[in-house]
Amino acid sequence: MTATGAEPAKTFEPGAIWPDDHGVHINAHGGGILLHKGAYYWCGEHKIEGGAGNVAQVGVHVYSSRDLYQWHDEGIALKVADDPASEITRECVMERPKVLYNEPTGKFVMWFHLELKGRGYGWARSGMAVADTVTGPYRYLGSVRPNAGVWPDNVPEEFRKPLTPAEKETLSKTSLPGGPVPHFPQELIFRRDFEGGQMARDMTLFQDDDGKAYHIYSSEENGTLHISQLSADFLKPAGKYVRVFPGRFNEAPALFKHGGTYYLITSGCTGWAPNAARLAVAESILGPWRELGNPCEGPEAQRRITFDSQSTFVLPAPGRKNAYIFMADRWRPGNAIDGRYVWLPVQFKDGKPFLAWMDRWDLGLFKE
Ligand code: GAL
Repeated sequence: MTATGAEPAKTFEPGAIWPDDHGVHINAHGGGILLHKGAYYWCGEHKIEGGAGNVAQVGVHVYSSRDLYQWHDEGIALKVADDPASEITRECVMERPKVLYNEPTGKFVMWFHLELKGRGYGWARSGMAVADTVTGPYRYLGSVRPNAGVWPDNVPEEFRKPLTPAEKETLSKTSLPGGPVPHFPQELIFRRDFEGGQMARDMTLFQDDDGKAYHIYSSEENGTLHISQLSADFLKPAGKYVRVFPGRFNEAPALFKHGGTYYLITSGCTGWAPNAARLAVAESILGPWRELGNPCEGPEAQRRITFDSQSTFVLPAPGRKNAYIFMADRWRPGNAIDGRYVWLPVQFKDGKPFLAWMDRWDLGLFKE
């Protein structure tokens, strides 16, 4: 029995209310999970009731668990600031926080998508915060538009130059609303942003077996994903990055590695409304990446909207080989706090990952 008298959870119920150890629905949206010293730490966006919950009123919430079913409320890891002059003042946009442990410095490093209060999604930066303990408190360090002054690795020499006045003119006449456009100006936006740094909206972090960490973010007005290596202390870009799928408008990136192969699950760009997930594969994290289509199986009505959810993270399952949990959000923009979590097992058919709906499941499913 828990403190609330309820039976402790031993299963995952995608889309249901997920009570924490106080019986309160878990409040960690767009989050990620870090395994540290045998415990799991889930950091995500704390939402409040109503439409007001779509911007950051509180900060990043953290929970801990040993079994992934029962979650202990560890409170707010990173608080919004009271100071109206702060970049992270209350009512800024603080989305998709992810935390890594940096072995060399012994620090926990958090990255998240940051937009200034009242300015929509135009700022397109990543914020960084650091803590000595995994649950925080995290100290805000600042924000970045990654890779200022650095050309992407996978761009030919001929495009490594500033925009000409004619190209600037073309771009100023192109409408870029943050979603698919008929003729995405593929070779213009990263060049426009070369000096000031690349746009970074939806994002995730991924640490590879060799210890190197990567920041994966929707860039170029959401048109192109960038995969960017982080510095050894994980606090800034290392100055090495690639462009992935220019003009495909991927967001909500979630990356995992299985048997030496890298997989990337993303969504299209339709705001809070769900759309069809996309799967991609690569033998090296810096590419080349190849699209494999929609990983969801089942009725078309569900495949089309990823079971009414949008990807946020893929977690290797505890103590099991080749077992991964797809974590997604079922957003409720009308009452943000009521957003639900859709966790599904990543299953494999002929070596290819797929996702199928389950009303209820547990980690026993991964036993071969
Ligand atoms: C989604 C994005 C969310 C949030 C939302 C705002 O596409 O994945 O993280 O930014 O748009 O409309």
